[in-house]
Amino acid sequence: MSTEYVNPLRDPRDKRLPRIAGPSGIVIFGVTGDLSRKKLMPAIYDLANRGLLPPGFALVGFARRDWDNEDFSKVVHDAVREHARTPFSEQVWRHLAEGFRFVQGSFGDDDAFDTLASTLADLDRVRGTGGNHAFYFSIPPNAFPVVLQQLRRSGLADPHGDEWRRVVIEKPFGHDLASAQELNTIVNDVFPKESVFRIDHYLGKETVQNLLALRFANQLYEPIWNANYVDHVQITMAEDIGIGGRAGYYDGIGAARDVIQNHLLQLMALTAMEEPVSFDPKNLRTEKIKVLSAVRLPADLGQATARGQYAGGWQGGQKVVGYLEEEGFSPTSKTETYAAVKLLVDNRRWAGVPFYLRTGKRLGKRVTEIAVIFKRAPHLPFARTDTEELGSNALVIRVQPDEGVTIRFGSKVPGPSMEVRDVNMDFSYGQSFTEASPEAYERLILDVLLGEPSLFPQDEEVELSWKILDPIERYWAKLNSQPEPYTAGTWGPASSDAMMARDGRVWRRP
Ligand SMILES: NC(=O)c1ccc[n+]([C@@H]2O[C@H](COP(=O)([O-])OP(=O)(O)OC[C@H]3O[C@@H](n4cnc5c(N)ncnc54)[C@H](OP(=O)(O)O)[C@@H]3O)[C@@H](O)[C@H]2O)c1
Repeated sequence: MSTEYVNPLRDPRDKRLPRIAGPSGIVIFGVTGDLSRKKLMPAIYDLANRGLLPPGFALVGFARRDWDNEDFSKVVHDAVREHARTPFSEQVWRHLAEGFRFVQGSFGDDDAFDTLASTLADLDRVRGTGGNHAFYFSIPPNAFPVVLQQLRRSGLADPHGDEWRRVVIEKPFGHDLASAQELNTIVNDVFPKESVFRIDHYLGKETVQNLLALRFANQLYEPIWNANYVDHVQITMAEDIGIGGRAGYYDGIGAARDVIQNHLLQLMALTAMEEPVSFDPKNLRTEKIKVLSAVRLPADLGQATARGQYAGGWQGGQKVVGYLEEEGFSPTSKTETYAAVKLLVDNRRWAGVPFYLRTGKRLGKRVTEIAVIFKRAPHLPFARTDTEELGSNALVIRVQPDEGVTIRFGSKVPGPSMEVRDVNMDFSYGQSFTEASPEAYERLILDVLLGEPSLFPQDEEVELSWKILDPIERYWAKLNSQPEPYTAGTWGPASSDAMMARDGRVWRRP
């Protein structure tokens, strides 16, 4: 048994400290991949550095590389040095690294899984992980079934006594409703529902959780958070990068499946839902499910959706190639890199209020935000010329990268006339709080170890989200046409602006 360490960053008298995970370990499948290197391994180190992992913690990497434990330790070390959020502490690192193991093998290899089982049993003995293990699937989705089968065959999916076994699944969870249902059946056949943690890393973001605080801890917003005062809602996730070397993953998937089906529909559900009875996972999900069940697609999908594909152009002073010229892509690919949809929520609170969701690559800048746009004042007792520069009031939740909240409203311009113009009032995390926000993966990995499922979409939410997207995907597939090109560095195809213009609205330029 390794010696217990005392983390110098923790003050044991501080009662506000978050819960610490109990004895446990994580097995990462696909540990050599991009996600593991940039996000998962650094997040595990950051949790250890914050004193939130137990002394009896272990990390096991599983991959095809011919590495031993020391090679693996060096890989984790380099990933942590490059990508961790908190400063490097030799003491924390040394203790953490004592619990590292590497198992070499491919997913079809029974022997490798038997070695994994004996490695975990050994860690239970020497490290004190207590038979509690989370299996993190950071692997291509087509490998999920074989790994699940292997976990069952080797007995790893079955806890004994008080032990727990959990499975963590990365997106994409299926590519339509039928495949998601099939996958849910396969997963639930091996792990019970409460042991399945589906990652939507947006839910791990502080700014997304703050939506709940903003809406339900304040009196200010609730009276106006409805169809009487809200004109429409715009939810945007824009990236300025292209697809780079991720052809295998992205081509055939596209922007709507990659982002709208999961991240944006989750943001929409949190924005539109009723106040939950409590933040108990079951109550929170009940409210999100009610919203997703109430979503209605407009009858004419040609008028209520838009899609595009980036063409070459200039971005950040550099010449960039278009999607069809990217390496590894079919030059005739019809995969969209931009998608916009208009959705309605058929309930009393939101009747007639459109929710516009858009996402794209190679757009003007990297930004994710939720903008609640309010109706104009019913009467303006000013000269028309004095309010020409007055827009609609708006509340903008800046999810990333400049985390915070902006309220836009009209204000008198100093001077002799009654000219009114839009101004912004800002809350910024950087200015209001001294502590930096943890990375989403820190929060989510800790919640997996704690068995706290609130921030993980459940099977019903995933299936309802596909139910919303499937008709749109079918409509686009039937068109069998090339998505409209848009120049890199702009804000998407003209058809998306036209979609808004038909409703007498415009997209925000974040
Ligand atoms: N990257 C992201 O930011 C991101 C974001 C959200 C979701 N995801 C999802 O997370 C997963 C991982 O993403 P990634 O970007 O890390 O992918 P990646 O870089 O392609 O890594 C895939 C990993 O799977 C392993 N693997 C594949 N087939 C295997 C087999 N038959 N036996 C053993 N190992 C095998 C690879 O190991 P080898 O080294 O042996 O090939 C590699 O470690 C994917 O499902 C992706 O959709 C990724």
